[in-house]
Amino acid sequence: MSLNEIYISQSLEQSLTPPETPPREKTKEKLVHPWPEPETSPEDVFPTKRQKTHHFGETEEDELEPFNVFTQEVLLLHAPKQRYAHTKDQPVPNIKNDREMLVAVEAIGLNPIDWKAPDFGWGLPALPCISGRDLAGRVVEAPKARSRFKRGDKVLGISTDYRDSRKSAFQQYAIVSDFNACRLPHHVSTKKAAPLGVAFVAASLALGICLGMDFRDVKTGLRGPNLLRIIRSIRRDLLPQDIRAECFDKIVDNERAKEGDWIAIWGGSSASGVCAVQLAKLAGLKVIAIIDVAKNGARMLKHGADLLVDRFDTDRAVQIVKDVTKGKLRFGLDTRGKETALLLAQAMQQGGEGEKRAHLVGLTGLPKEETKGVVYHSVPIKAFHEAPRVGEGLMLWLETLLEQKLLTTPDIEVAEGGLEGINAALDRLRDGSVNGPRIVVPLTT
Ligand SMILES: NC(=O)c1ccc[n+]([C@@H]2O[C@H](COP(=O)([O-])OP(=O)(O)OC[C@H]3O[C@@H](n4cnc5c(N)ncnc54)[C@H](OP(=O)(O)O)[C@@H]3O)[C@@H](O)[C@H]2O)c1
Repeated sequence: MSLNEIYISQSLEQSLTPPETPPREKTKEKLVHPWPEPETSPEDVFPTKRQKTHHFGETEEDELEPFNVFTQEVLLLHAPKQRYAHTKDQPVPNIKNDREMLVAVEAIGLNPIDWKAPDFGWGLPALPCISGRDLAGRVVEAPKARSRFKRGDKVLGISTDYRDSRKSAFQQYAIVSDFNACRLPHHVSTKKAAPLGVAFVAASLALGICLGMDFRDVKTGLRGPNLLRIIRSIRRDLLPQDIRAECFDKIVDNERAKEGDWIAIWGGSSASGVCAVQLAKLAGLKVIAIIDVAKNGARMLKHGADLLVDRFDTDRAVQIVKDVTKGKLRFGLDTRGKETALLLAQAMQQGGEGEKRAHLVGLTGLPKEETKGVVYHSVPIKAFHEAPRVGEGLMLWLETLLEQKLLTTPDIEVAEGGLEGINAALDRLRDGSVNGPRIVVPLTT
């Protein structure tokens, strides 16, 4: 399937009113490249334009200096159960179509999948490969197609397309499709933004596609995308086979989550959970967060959770959720695994005659056993890069949410050492010694 087959750039307007891209601010920020700088003073944040002087004394902007770096440092994974190998003199990835741009990576956000993939051999493409899903940096080559991105823009890039190493985060330069990039507002640094991407995409697809939340109706009047409508406007056979049922068949219109409904999020303090809490609140739902209340309660109240339930006594947690929702909970999201997903299913409406079905999304797995009246869902994460209308709808909305400070970026812990520091940082995720903040690895000083 080619991009053009699936991207008919017509219908964003039908399902979402894209906000005006805020005017570019000519800030005093300096661009710090991750490659060795020449002895000269640092460049301005926006690329220098050569001035052409005419014989009559006027000047006009000439072409931008071409980007001319050809090699880079990367982390390569050669085989499962190995550590990432820091490797120099690798080619800078090539742009392959008009919607792709090249981004100089300034900060990488680490995700659980970054250690689970090599350890368990999950989601590994042809080896050796470059991994890493979350990055933020500066555009060094803009898309050739007309787009809202220009060289020098500060962007967040999300690489759900893990089979394409050109797009991965563990390298100095990465390819990002314009519909999978978010232009960052001035007040959000690349370090703060780096860990947000995958969590935001997973949370919004879970809520918007699996549970059918319509973000056009958000309380603030800031219209977001109607993801279910966007995805269903695409021909079924143009989507990857393994996400078709999730996108087209699992929820019917009158079952969709809407303002006033309850949703319970088991593992609500995780990065994806925190995004989901905030987005569900924007859509007017009432949110129960099942978390370590002593550790994360204050933070989760700040994000808008309506009810906090401590996760340590699981039977009691299930009972509290059932009692508060009077046994009528129809929407659930689990970020932990199949055991907690089963507990959550047990707390949901079990489906009597004529009752609407309940819907439960498992980010990390689903129970083997069915629960009467509860439909299980997996996040169709590929929709983000395979369906540009979906990706673009989400990215335009994220730009507005960040600009208006309606979405908080995750708490971060900064790991030192650049690319070479990533193995050690991932060890800390593996052994659970960082449990709460997201690890961010800056590639620049
Ligand atoms: N399917 C997909 O496409 C997709 C996309 C994104 C993420 N994921 C998966 O979703 C999961 C969450 O990812 P993330 O990046 O959001 O995680 P994260 O930010 O690393 O979340 C870790 C958090 O989970 C909480 N936690 C630990 N044990 C828990 C338990 N037994 N019950 C409830 N909460 C517990 C911890 O909070 P406390 O200990 O403080 O309570 C911790 O803050 C990962 O397994 C990830 O691989 C899947």
